Amino acid sequence: MEKSEYRAVIKFFTRQGKSVATIMNEMSLVYDDSCPGKTMVYKWHSLFKQGRESLEDDPRPGEQSNLHISEAMAENIKVAVVTGSNKGIGFAIVKGLCEKFNGVVYLTSRDAKRGEDAVSKLKTLGYNPSFHQLDVNDQASVDKLKDHIKNTHGGVDILINNAGIATDTTDYASVKKVIDTNYYGLLRVSETFFPILRQDARIVNVSSSLGHLSKISSATLREKFSDSSLSVAKLNELMEQYLKDYKDNVAVKKGWAFNGYYVSKVGVSALTRVHQKLVNEKYQEKNISINSVHPGYVNTDMTDHLGILTPDEGAKSSLFAALEAKNLKGQYIWNDNRVVEWTASSAP
Ligand SMILES: NC(=O)c1ccc[n+]([C@@H]2O[C@H](COP(=O)([O-])OP(=O)(O)OC[C@H]3O[C@@H](n4cnc5c(N)ncnc54)[C@H](OP(=O)(O)O)[C@@H]3O)[C@@H](O)[C@H]2O)c1
Repeated sequence: MEKSEYRAVIKFFTRQGKSVATIMNEMSLVYDDSCPGKTMVYKWHSLFKQGRESLEDDPRPGEQSNLHISEAMAENIKVAVVTGSNKGIGFAIVKGLCEKFNGVVYLTSRDAKRGEDAVSKLKTLGYNPSFHQLDVNDQASVDKLKDHIKNTHGGVDILINNAGIATDTTDYASVKKVIDTNYYGLLRVSETFFPILRQDARIVNVSSSLGHLSKISSATLREKFSDSSLSVAKLNELMEQYLKDYKDNVAVKKGWAFNGYYVSKVGVSALTRVHQKLVNEKYQEKNISINSVHPGYVNTDMTDHLGILTPDEGAKSSLFAALEAKNLKGQYIWNDNRVVEWTASSAP
């Protein structure tokens, strides 16, 4: 949305007696073409159109200064985004943020209908998340969300990279999909959002106990993953090497992990450390924190509902890292909020 249009929308709806916070929450529904909540879109859009002309003909004294206050307030409203949050742990993280985080919370989903249904479910419970489509495997979709957040709010305070998949099948294509979604999808979202991270922003990468370095059996590979000079490019090379070894049927012989899901999550934990180093250098003054978490063994579709923790319990470490953790940067956080040494010889 153009800045002038954005200002006009705020002006119009504050005149209608709506608070800026309400407008900001609902703004995403007004101009988001991808949003299927068309009834809402049309309602707001036509209300805005009807009202705009009369407003332009009727400048009120003090209008300009009110407008500046509204704009400043809009920019001060905090924003959180959770990937893959139409169900499972992500859904519970959104619910927890709606309870504890003083700002706008975005529930995102690769499938708009599933996302909309999830938002409706939370609304019936009295929460008010915003919605935006997001497929972490699609750069155009990630860019669209980033542009929407930038144009509507100016920046983002919390990004929770929760989206993930597992697979029961062992064919190469399925294993590649797991690496693409869990590792490359997360990398794509984080790096697209880096430029719009605000002061003191926090990123939480949902890893796993299976993403502990000890899950890689080769000492040589473990050294590569934990090398203090590891870069994103070198880490990508490791992930590509795994895929090649898997395709050539030598992954076990070369000492990789039990399966592709493990490797994807070791990649996520390693990337967390590399990204923390990168933002420390590139956005030094912003005090950005990036940590990875193990949510526990959680009762969700991914575990065929065999997990012993509820999704709300599984959301706890992510909420801790996003809202409460003090001075934790580049760390690996267990489901009881303990910092665990990622390079230790075994996981807890
Ligand atoms: N459950 C556990 O015990 C456990 C343990 C350790 C770690 N984890 C991690 O916790 C995270 C959440 O898992 P969960 O148990 O809640 O699983 P889940 O119930 O299967 O939910 C996964 C979520 O990720 C979404 N997703 C998958 N691919 C996506 C894509 N390309 N773009 C955007 N969203 C996508 C799914 O959307 P759809 O509905 O469209 O598929 C769903 O919303 C995952 O990263 C998982 O690896 C889970």
